[in-house]
This record gives sequence, structure tokens and C-alpha cells, in this order.
Amino acid sequence: MQSATPAGAFDDLADSYDHRHHDEIARALIAWVGPGPDDAVADVACGAGAVSLHLARSRPSTAPPVLAVDLSTRMISVGRSRAAGLIPDAAIDWRAGDAVPLPVAEHSLDVVLCASSLHFLGSRAPADWRRVLRPGGRVGFTLPLATHFRPSERFSRLLAADVPLPRTAQEASAWATACGFTEADSRVHVLGTRRVVLTSATSPDGP
Ligand SMILES: C[S@@+](CC[C@H](N)C(=O)[O-])C[C@H]1O[C@@H](n2cnc3c(N)ncnc32)[C@H](O)[C@@H]1O
Repeated sequence: MQSATPAGAFDDLADSYDHRHHDEIARALIAWVGPGPDDAVADVACGAGAVSLHLARSRPSTAPPVLAVDLSTRMISVGRSRAAGLIPDAAIDWRAGDAVPLPVAEHSLDVVLCASSLHFLGSRAPADWRRVLRPGGRVGFTLPLATHFRPSERFSRLLAADVPLPRTAQEASAWATACGFTEADSRVHVLGTRRVVLTSATSPDGP
């Protein structure tokens, strides 16, 4: 029987997950945000580690571990298997649980990345990113372009009502600005018949 919880739904998906699609989004997001080699980074709702793996492979061994948090233990387990042998164990700090709030102190991160997941987390997530990012820290997230998004009924039920799916890159930037970030910049990324919007923005100095 299918689980109705988000963790259960993604546990069920883990073995047939489309890694190629999500790896490409992860690469595009990292390139769009451009984290520094030694930055303290969180991969929010990391799933099978598309962002964490790509990032960890390109960082020096002195870099802090990428904090990778996801509700689905099965997705994390697939992520760990993918990482084995490719990168040192210590390069990714895998945590199972709700990614909101992130299990870190306020203003302790340089970069927060969230690929293909914000529409499940809701607007409480960007509020938390403001808490954990240092002033001037960077956030990067992707959202499906509304005009090209066709989720199954099962996953439609998991969507957060308070994250508007953008119809244009400008709408995604405007939403990031409404969430309190500055210097928001977005672009549409084309993957075959699918479209996602990549957004980067800065955490402001003040409240
Ligand atoms: C479409 S997948 C994307 C995963 C990954 N970021 C990627 O790029 O492949 C969405 C992920 O969000 C996770 N998720 C949904 N709600 C969550 C929550 N509240 N806290 C942590 N993870 C969550 C799911 O378990 C799933 O792994």
C-alpha cells in the first residue's frame, strides 16, 4: 500500500528516482549560485544527494562537510550508496529528519541550496534560511516552471499551498525578494520537455 506521508512517498520513489534529471538540475543550481570552495553549505531536502555529491566532489578536503538533510531515510540511504567510493565519508554530513528548521545555529552557514524541493517544504523554509545564513550569505533554490509542471496525483497532494510556482523567472525573483532576500536573480533552465527556474539571492545584513 502507498504511504500518504511525504517521507513514505519519497521512500517509495527512492529506487526508481530519476538521478540524471536531478543531477543536471543540481549542477545548474550550483553553477548559478557559485558557492566558494570552503563555504559552510546546507543541502536542504537533499534526497539522494544530487547537490551534495556534485558539490563535495569539487571541494578541497579542508572544506567543512556539506550538511545534507532529508525526511526520507530511503533517499538518504541511496545517497550514501552513490557517495561510497566517490568521495570521502566525511565530506557529507547526512541527517534524516525535517529540514525545517535546519539543525544548525543562526548565521552559521555561508550558502543554503535547495533543489527540486521547496514546493514541498513551504514558505517556512526561506524564513529558516534567513535565520541560518550569515549576513551576505547566499541562497539558491529551484522550482518547477508552473506552465510545464505535471506532478502525479500522489505528489500533488504533498505540495505546499504557500509556495507559488513561478510562471516566469521574474516571478521567482519577486517571491525571493518578498521572502526577505536581496539581489535575487533567476533564469529558466530547459531539460528536454521540462523547465525549472533557478534562483539565487543574498541574505540581507539586517532583519
Ligand atoms: C524531488 S526530491 C528532490 C531531492 C534532491 N534535492 C534532488 O535534487 O534530487 C524532494 C525531496 O524533498 C524531501 N522532503 C520533502 N519534505 C521534506 C521536509 N519537510 N524535510 C526534509 N526533506 C523533505 C523528500 O523526502 C525528497 O527527498
